[in-house]
Amino acid sequence: MRQSIRFYLGNVRHEIPAFSPTRTVLDWLREDKRRTGTKEGCNEGDCGACTVLVVRLEGDKLVWRAVNACIQFLWMLDGAQLFTVEDLRSPEGALHPVQQAMVELHGAQCGFCTPGFVMSMVAYCKTPGASMEEDAINTALAGNLCRCTGYAPIVRAMKRALSLPGDVLDTQTEVITTRLKALADGETVEISGPEGRLTLPGNADALATAYQADPQATLVAGATDVGLWVTKGLRTLPHVISVGLVPDLRTIEHTPDGLRVGAAVTYTQAKEAIAAMLPDAEEVIRRIGSTQVRNAGTVCGNIGNGSPIGDGPPVLIAAGAVLKLRCGEAHRSLPLEEYFLAYGKQDRKPGEFIEAVVIPQPQPGMVFRAYKISKRFDQDISAVLGAFALTFDTDGRIASARIAFGGMAAIPKRAAMTEAALQGQFWTEATLTAAQDAMKADFEPISDMRSSAWYRQTVAGNLLTRLFAETAPDYAGTETRLAGWKEQAYV
Ligand SMILES: Cc1cc2nc3c(=O)[nH]c(=O)nc-3n(C[C@H](O)[C@H](O)[C@H](O)COP(=O)(O)OP(=O)(O)OC[C@H]3O[C@@H](n4cnc5c(N)ncnc54)[C@H](O)[C@@H]3O)c2cc1C
Ligand code: FES
Ligand code: FES
Repeated sequence: MRQSIRFYLGNVRHEIPAFSPTRTVLDWLREDKRRTGTKEGCNEGDCGACTVLVVRLEGDKLVWRAVNACIQFLWMLDGAQLFTVEDLRSPEGALHPVQQAMVELHGAQCGFCTPGFVMSMVAYCKTPGASMEEDAINTALAGNLCRCTGYAPIVRAMKRALSLPGDVLDTQTEVITTRLKALADGETVEISGPEGRLTLPGNADALATAYQADPQATLVAGATDVGLWVTKGLRTLPHVISVGLVPDLRTIEHTPDGLRVGAAVTYTQAKEAIAAMLPDAEEVIRRIGSTQVRNAGTVCGNIGNGSPIGDGPPVLIAAGAVLKLRCGEAHRSLPLEEYFLAYGKQDRKPGEFIEAVVIPQPQPGMVFRAYKISKRFDQDISAVLGAFALTFDTDGRIASARIAFGGMAAIPKRAAMTEAALQGQFWTEATLTAAQDAMKADFEPISDMRSSAWYRQTVAGNLLTRLFAETAPDYAGTETRLAGWKEQAYV
């Protein structure tokens, strides 16, 4: 058992024995280390001004990820190396190629957003296969907001930086790998102090024991929800137990039952494997928050929060996913839709936690679609999200339909009446109309700041029309996606 956390800031090793379990990386950097290059803008993961670079070993490989320091807790750095904008300069004092490109191409005016942009840009340069395409660059930078420069010069600077040779950090790959291997001791960490208690279980068994012993503790995976309870809700959390740093929960594996995504797997880590099974899930995942949010936020944390507007649950419910829960030594499985009981209430016993979610292999010929409706394309919470899985008989009738919506009820919910209206029918305009009528009985959405009840009901019906246009035999191939958005060029 260890009683401190250990990580590197730049090239300096830190071992910290006592601190609040909700101390954020941003506050620690600015207040304790006086590294004020990392800025505080929104303090809720939206603006990217606080972006820092966290390096970890994933298997034997070093992986560089941009994250929002404002909603990362300090302990989340255990076993990692952290780089801030102050670490980018070469020993001779030269600017990093990204910084140089920002200067030469006028990528900053007031400069407040600039360190955050620079860190996201450096992270993108270190992403294997990073593309020069504007769409990919926009996605990489969607979590960074600038209110004065305009994005065109920043995107130009990104392209120039990508075309330059490596940087000062590349020369340290071996050293960093050796350091991080030395930090990975698999120990459970336990820290108690006047500001609260922290448990970082060394494995899933230790997590099960710790949580069973204190079911009132707060589980934290990536903290992209819990971080805001602290920075915006000003909550204190007397006992925090980490899920996100448990190594045996950070696994994705193909099993006979399907793709098993462990509770510590982030959206970034899971995206490729999920998209390989459900191509339409890729766009939904790409639109969850931003690069920084997906680098920290987990698929299972998205389920754990029980939100009616989380993007993952409807997609996974339509795909027939099964939740794996554990309480002490007891394991159980649950169809994901049965986990959500009512607003803020899930089928989870005291001391029980989500171990994984298993996504079954799609049946041959299954048609899967998922559509997110939000006010902005990137970095926005859904007003409505509809996910659809249809299978067809050999004669063209709909053999089965699984349909789930977010934003339409107090929980992510299946559209049972709509499914019944589709089952056994040919996929015709008459069936579409019947399904749209049935959907009115499935949901009674509410009005809130994201949209009115009328809008939600109408758009959900329209998503069925989109599904029909994309998948019905006489219409398949109809262009329904935002045409041309990929071609928008910053010239
Ligand atoms: C700027 C921003 C944008 C966002 N955009 C989106 C978006 O577009 N779509 C979307 O769906 N979400 C969005 N989110 C919300 C959030 O990113 C997701 O819900 C994310 O998947 C949460 O995962 P996490 O690992 O960060 O969870 P955490 O914050 O660590 O935990 C979330 C909840 O789950 C519980 N929990 C965590 N792990 C477990 C477990 N193993 N067992 C039981 N309970 C557990 C926690 O106690 C907590 O209640 C956004 C958040 C931010 C800050
Ligand atoms: S300060 Fe805005 S994302 Fe962190
Ligand atoms: S340069 Fe002012 S906010 Fe970006």
